[in-house]
Amino acid sequence: MRTPSTLLGAAALLLCFVTCPATSGAEPLPDEFLWGVATSGFQSEGSSPDSNWARYAASGRTDDAIGDSVDFRHRYREDIARAADLGVDVFRFGIEWARVQPSPGSWDDTELRYYDDVVREITGRGMTPMITLDHWVYPGWVADKGGWANQATVDHWLEYARRVVPRYSGSGALWITINEPTVYLQKELTFGGVTAAQGPQMLDRLVEVHRRAYDLIHEYDPDARVSSNLSYIPAATDAVDAMFVDRVREKLDFLGVDYYYGLALDNVTAVNAITDDFYRIDPQPDGIYSALMRYTRKFPGLPLYVVENGMPTDNGQPRPDGYTRSDHLRDHIYWMERARQDGAPVIGYNYWSITDNYEWGTYRPRFGLYTVDALTDPTLTRRPTDAVATYRDIIVAGLPDSYVPARKPGFCSLVDLPTSCIDPP
Ligand code: BGC
Repeated sequence: MRTPSTLLGAAALLLCFVTCPATSGAEPLPDEFLWGVATSGFQSEGSSPDSNWARYAASGRTDDAIGDSVDFRHRYREDIARAADLGVDVFRFGIEWARVQPSPGSWDDTELRYYDDVVREITGRGMTPMITLDHWVYPGWVADKGGWANQATVDHWLEYARRVVPRYSGSGALWITINEPTVYLQKELTFGGVTAAQGPQMLDRLVEVHRRAYDLIHEYDPDARVSSNLSYIPAATDAVDAMFVDRVREKLDFLGVDYYYGLALDNVTAVNAITDDFYRIDPQPDGIYSALMRYTRKFPGLPLYVVENGMPTDNGQPRPDGYTRSDHLRDHIYWMERARQDGAPVIGYNYWSITDNYEWGTYRPRFGLYTVDALTDPTLTRRPTDAVATYRDIIVAGLPDSYVPARKPGFCSLVDLPTSCIDPP
């Protein structure tokens, strides 16, 4: 039970939280800490084969069509080289089921060899692949059979996994089975892949494929590290956990935590996520601390990995408040280090994303370390943002001990209630 003196302490801390200068104070991140960049298949590759998302993007219901996106399919070598040049340890990419299995029972060798080459490029440059098996996209022929509303999709999905997993099990890969299951469900509901009544079945099936894929991956590589990354949704964490992560706890070698947006009494701008106006959200970097501490308490001993974190801008324009991608990166790393110092077993951090890409219906929110004018520049030139040099410096030397976050913590953070408000760091 919380005693009055604890509450007084909390009040004092809260006051200090708002007025005291913050210092990093954290031990430098250990050598084995994994720095990474993240991307996904459909969002970056272009040349999209028939899939649920190729159909949604062509339906006229999205702001932008996908076009060739940033053509990762043909420019992967240069993007992987950019990542290596940043000094990262991990390159996350997604294998597109629709690309490798264009129709039931037929496997596209050219496309499988493309992924072989992606893995070879990553490992050849001394990095570890983090492979996502399902980043919300399934083949058109699966959609025709009802997608996740159909129990047979589980078997089809596992057949795909059996084709891909042994192929890359010797690469030392980290594995993500299903990307953000709850947002996957939300997107499928939005675009009509499943109805509200079918939503619970979709979740059951995602749980089943995760559990079976976990076993499959370990069959080929007992030391493999496997997870599914959750989307951290402040104030809804218990409900989100109950949908997926609580149901697969013993089938996680680490927990992937994607942190983008906070919530506080003085910052409710996260409501803009409902309309996908991500660039209107005021970042709340201290929330990553609360998110990581939540899972440290909830799953003692389970390593945590920030599989995605990044800042959207409005079409590449500077934010009106002057907060830069570098500020955002440094501030989140500062709070991640604070969480580590307080016992969070964080083993890695990926920046989302190496380049701008197709943000599920629009190119307007831009998350890239390298910016690309996908809609207007036929050369798809990658231009470095300020955060490229910043990330490189952080990877080499960490944050200076004297670092003071550019953004003040939210007042009474609601990221992990009640702790984040009454017992802030
Ligand atoms: C998804 C990415 C997406 C990012 C930014 C995450 O929910 O995994 O695909 O681009 O957030 O919105």
